[in-house]
Amino acid sequence: MTATLIKGAEVAAQIREELKKEIADLKAKHNLVPGLVTVLVGADPASQVYVGQKEKTSKELGIYSERHDLPEKTTQKELIALVNQLNKDPKIHGILVQLPLPKHLNEEEVLYTINPRKDVDGFHPVNVGKLMIGEPDYLPCTPAGIQQLLIRSGTPIEGAEVVVVGRSNIVGKPIANMLLQKAPGANATVTICHTKTRDIAFHTRRADILIVAAGKPKSVTGDMVKNGVVVIDVGVNEIGKTADGKRILAGDVDFDTVKEKAKAITPVPGGVGPMTITMLMMNTVRAAKVAAGLMKK
Ligand code: GUN
Repeated sequence: MTATLIKGAEVAAQIREELKKEIADLKAKHNLVPGLVTVLVGADPASQVYVGQKEKTSKELGIYSERHDLPEKTTQKELIALVNQLNKDPKIHGILVQLPLPKHLNEEEVLYTINPRKDVDGFHPVNVGKLMIGEPDYLPCTPAGIQQLLIRSGTPIEGAEVVVVGRSNIVGKPIANMLLQKAPGANATVTICHTKTRDIAFHTRRADILIVAAGKPKSVTGDMVKNGVVVIDVGVNEIGKTADGKRILAGDVDFDTVKEKAKAITPVPGGVGPMTITMLMMNTVRAAKVAAGLMKK
């Protein structure tokens, strides 16, 4: 079997077209312009790329976009003051503080300070808790993108054996939680593997749906999966540079061996990545509608 590709870039483009129309409609009918602010502290090159992509996509869709690039030496007090000011700003419906923050800053306190209604990342403990009990306001963006890819590729989720490799707060834990909910596009049996799992291959071989967010290139190989598995590769690893200096990216899955057994697989790049930003835009539109009283939650 050679896998079909789950083309996240195409799915994302389709959702963005839908969002663009909705945003134009909100402006025409309600004079409402969703607003998203990004806050970046320091000069981490990968974070600069991500923030730039978020700003560019916002503009393309008609979302008001604001960007605060703060110096590495920013103090906790200064950052908290900025978040408090953004919490009060009526033009801003979504606040995104790019992670990781420099080591001297307390990430937890910053995330706790964001008004949960403006927390379009879904990282505030109120939103994490609501997700856990099956009453989410904002789904975290990468897991939301993964769920959309599964649904829109026609992958049966209900009753499926889902194995998640990786237990981060941003991807592993929330996607596992979302797929086990008693809800449409969920109702799966979920296993989470992590660095202390005794025999990861024992679990991955049972998976109907395998989601890999391990942060390590090629950590799942063809001998670790069963025939017909659907694979979602969340990894983005730079494994080298081309002669003209472009980054060469690889996922957490060994694409060449796994694709021979999988029914479907996401490519890297062009799989989960474009979905993450699209879900951020979707959450921002939702936040604007809730703030304007056009939607209950
Ligand atoms: N760093 C890596 N992924 C993310 C994300 O989804 N949101 C934020 N705020 N920071 C990140």
